[in-house]
Amino acid sequence: MLGRLLHGRPHPGAPGAIGHARAYEVFSGLGFAGRRRRLYGQLVALSGVRPGEHVLDVGCGTGYLARMMAETVAPDGTVLGVDPSGPMIRYARDHTRLGGCTFSEGFAEDLDAPDGTFDVVVTSLAVHHIPEAKRAQAIKEMFRVLRPGGRVLIADYRPPSGRLARRLIGPLSGPVMRHNPVHLLEPLAREAGFGGLNSGDLRPFLHFVRGVKPAADERGRGVAGEAAG
Ligand SMILES: C[S@@+](CC[C@H](N)C(=O)[O-])C[C@H]1O[C@@H](n2cnc3c(N)ncnc32)[C@H](O)[C@@H]1O
Repeated sequence: MLGRLLHGRPHPGAPGAIGHARAYEVFSGLGFAGRRRRLYGQLVALSGVRPGEHVLDVGCGTGYLARMMAETVAPDGTVLGVDPSGPMIRYARDHTRLGGCTFSEGFAEDLDAPDGTFDVVVTSLAVHHIPEAKRAQAIKEMFRVLRPGGRVLIADYRPPSGRLARRLIGPLSGPVMRHNPVHLLEPLAREAGFGGLNSGDLRPFLHFVRGVKPAADERGRGVAGEAAG
């Protein structure tokens, strides 16, 4: 119900693209019950991002996390937010007044950036919007565009553990959020090549995975690299 409302007209290349940016913002505010800023502040902290770094936000939507990351990397760092939805990107641009924070239309599974471009890649609540068959490729792309030693933070909805909450969330948001397989994120990150993996929950809403792209001479030897953060 909610999903159908937010998606709007289908996107030709991205079935999970959200078309109604303003409605998404309203529902995010309500859905996080006033805790969105605090929660996203925790994501910024978990990413370990530092002033001067170059950050990519994959599936950036309206740019909420990208803007918070931009406050942290200022004045010399940059943040690029990427999302296939034109309306989301327009909303993000219209609501961003921070130098060094830009937005561009694009797909997680085919990122338009050279290898080793970014210090940090973040993605929040977007992996379950990527078609299942393309998720592994999307995480490989995050790995590719990070520099050796760069860090990834993947955060997604944690399905509610209570039976009642699960029953309610199904009709409201569709089956994806009821069964979102967040336990597969860490294996996907490992398969992409990330080391130093650790994962956890920001209860009640989010599950996260952090990892590091090993230095070139550490790959192949299976050395994980230092833990993120
Ligand atoms: C629930 S929103 C999350 C937006 C934002 N990251 C946040 O935390 O508010 C999911 C986003 O993923 C985007 N999306 C859908 N398919 C995608 C794909 N293939 N690659 C990247 N992003 C995608 C949607 O358009 C939408 O903006």
